[in-house]
Amino acid sequence: MIVKSAAFITSAVKPDQYPEDLYPEVAFAGRSNVGKSSLINTLVNRKRLVKTSSTPGRTQLINFFSVNDSLFLVDLPGYGYAKVPAAVKRKWGPMIETYLKGRDSLAAVVLILDIRRLPGIEEQNFIDWLNLYRRTPILVLTKADKLSKIKRQKQARAISAALSVDESALIQFSAKTRLGKPAVWSAVERAAFG
Ligand code: GTP
Ligand code: MG
Repeated sequence: MIVKSAAFITSAVKPDQYPEDLYPEVAFAGRSNVGKSSLINTLVNRKRLVKTSSTPGRTQLINFFSVNDSLFLVDLPGYGYAKVPAAVKRKWGPMIETYLKGRDSLAAVVLILDIRRLPGIEEQNFIDWLNLYRRTPILVLTKADKLSKIKRQKQARAISAALSVDESALIQFSAKTRLGKPAVWSAVERAAFG
């Protein structure tokens, strides 16, 4: 994808705040601090279009971005961060569930995992939940720059076994080195435009 323009559209909590579904949409989900916002910035070649932070729980709303006036990318708040206030945590489930269930233009969900961590119960629950809504995620293993190539392969194998998916279904990615950027784009484009 040649990105000619990328812009923040709006933040939303509930459906009447979502933008009109003019374009196909791809959402990015994953544990808090895993690198969702950084991945979107890398895809659109921007350093700070999406706010990133070393403090987990930075993204607390559903944020919509448009690319080339033909696609929406959606940054979802992360799950699984203990220090997020209880009131925020209580709202997270219904907010994300309503979005995933009801957004007709949602073409795919990209689930981002840290390549250094084996997926836990939260990840498995999230995948089961997506499957329930017939939304098979695009699986991305990020922060690949933090491991040697040999360790990356080893982790990819272990994660694929833990999730019972084919290793070829896992895209290794780094926001730092941009490894995997073309692969993520082609999966996103295939989902959005067929
Ligand atoms: P929340 O919005 O809090 O859920 O976090 P997030 O998933 O959006 O993560 P974010 O993109 O804000 O990144 C979290 C931290 O990880 C930041 O300090 C980033 O610089 C760092 N980070 C993200 N991606 C990578 C990567 O591929 N490699 C390295 N080395 N650091 C990364
Ligand atoms: Mg974020």
